[in-house]
Amino acid sequence: MSSLATIILAAGKGTRMKSALPKVLHEVCGRSLIEHVLDISRQLGSLKTCIVLGHGIEKVQAHLPKNILTVEQKKLLGTGDAVKITEKIFQSFQGDILILCGDTPLLKVETIRSLIKKHRSAKAVATVLTAVVEDSRGYGRMIRDHHGNVIAIREENDCDELERNIKEINSGVFCFNAKVLFENLRKIKVNSDKGEYYLTDLIALLAVKDLRIETVTTSESAEGLGVNTRQDLAACAAVMRQRILKDLMLSGVTIIDPATTHIAVDVKIGIETVIKPFTVIENHVVIGKNCIVGPFAHLRPGTCVDDNVEIGNFAEVSRTTVGSGTFVKHFSFLGDAIVGRNVNIGAGTITANYNGVEKSRTVIGDGAFIGSDSILVAPVKIGKKAMTGAGSVVTAGKIVPDGKIFVGVPARMVPGRNRK
Ligand code: UD1
Ligand code: MG
Repeated sequence: MSSLATIILAAGKGTRMKSALPKVLHEVCGRSLIEHVLDISRQLGSLKTCIVLGHGIEKVQAHLPKNILTVEQKKLLGTGDAVKITEKIFQSFQGDILILCGDTPLLKVETIRSLIKKHRSAKAVATVLTAVVEDSRGYGRMIRDHHGNVIAIREENDCDELERNIKEINSGVFCFNAKVLFENLRKIKVNSDKGEYYLTDLIALLAVKDLRIETVTTSESAEGLGVNTRQDLAACAAVMRQRILKDLMLSGVTIIDPATTHIAVDVKIGIETVIKPFTVIENHVVIGKNCIVGPFAHLRPGTCVDDNVEIGNFAEVSRTTVGSGTFVKHFSFLGDAIVGRNVNIGAGTITANYNGVEKSRTVIGDGAFIGSDSILVAPVKIGKKAMTGAGSVVTAGKIVPDGKIFVGVPARMVPGRNRK
């Protein structure tokens, strides 16, 4: 079988986003657009992956893993030019080159696999991933002859009225024979309206030579969605959100109201856990089995929740681990905290983790009872089975010994009494 290399096009300005942030760094469900696409090439086991960067190159490079090969497109002369500048990198490469765009986060790896499979079994020189969409505005239209063979991809501005009505669009994903790709790229002419070299013009060039061009159409039309505006970003997020929730539900998690639940793409949740409405769970969060989260809970990055935990209304948890059997049921903020097992966090508890200069840790031991409206000013440590009274303020640097009771403002030990 011939080998596979991948080129990801991500140099574009993203003008339509109207953003200082390079387009491919905008996020969908907790992960940047470029990471979504990169993840696909990783899963495909591509021999070599090269990302073409240009606009905001420093920002994008800083965001990417260090081992990723990137190449700079100094002048943004279009998708055809972007591929052309990788020619040197693939000089000695013999095989197939997969081209992905950095702005299509909804592609599924199975679809790309079937594209490559078809490309190889049909011995095509080029295979295009197409999608059939309701609203084809903004996309390149697939032009076919009366036998159904692809003869060109026509960009919106160059379409006549009939062509504009075509619903089959170019998703921006191609598989090319490497040799044919680079030989013919040199022959593309600049588009006079835009002053760009369109990769899509290659298809007409190959078609007139009677070379074999194949297509695969996505089964879900949304897969081909490209993000060019912030509206597209929201549309992609809506589709991905439903995919994430569906996978979680199929794995044994109850999502009471998918319409109001936002869960990032890399979140892990154990079976029998119930996520109640209006809950937001950001990236890098792990939740165990048999938990109840929400309604109106916000779990932020770096939160790790063990089994049998309840996190209820208006609780926000950030960079915190919560031990099994612990309750955080009402109006709390836990940040930079390590909370043990079987702890009761009373309503209104706040870990004051930031003093305006730095963030500090709060440690709460197993079996502790934190009274309602306690403020724990970090750094602070509450011992095992210790207790704070309602409304107490445990000041920075305090250590509440195991089993002791602290009350008041500032909180002081109740002498001679241990918690039963
Ligand atoms: C492109 C396709 C269109 C397809 C659509 C799918 C072309 C000419 N058009 O249009 O047929 O339907 O994608 O989403 O290819 N880029 C560079 N360098 C450049 C210009 C663009 O690397 O000089 C990158 C962009 O960062 C982006 C990708 O190429 O990731 C596509 O560019 P974009 O401007 O979004 O093209 P579309 O108008 O969406
Ligand atoms: Mg695009």
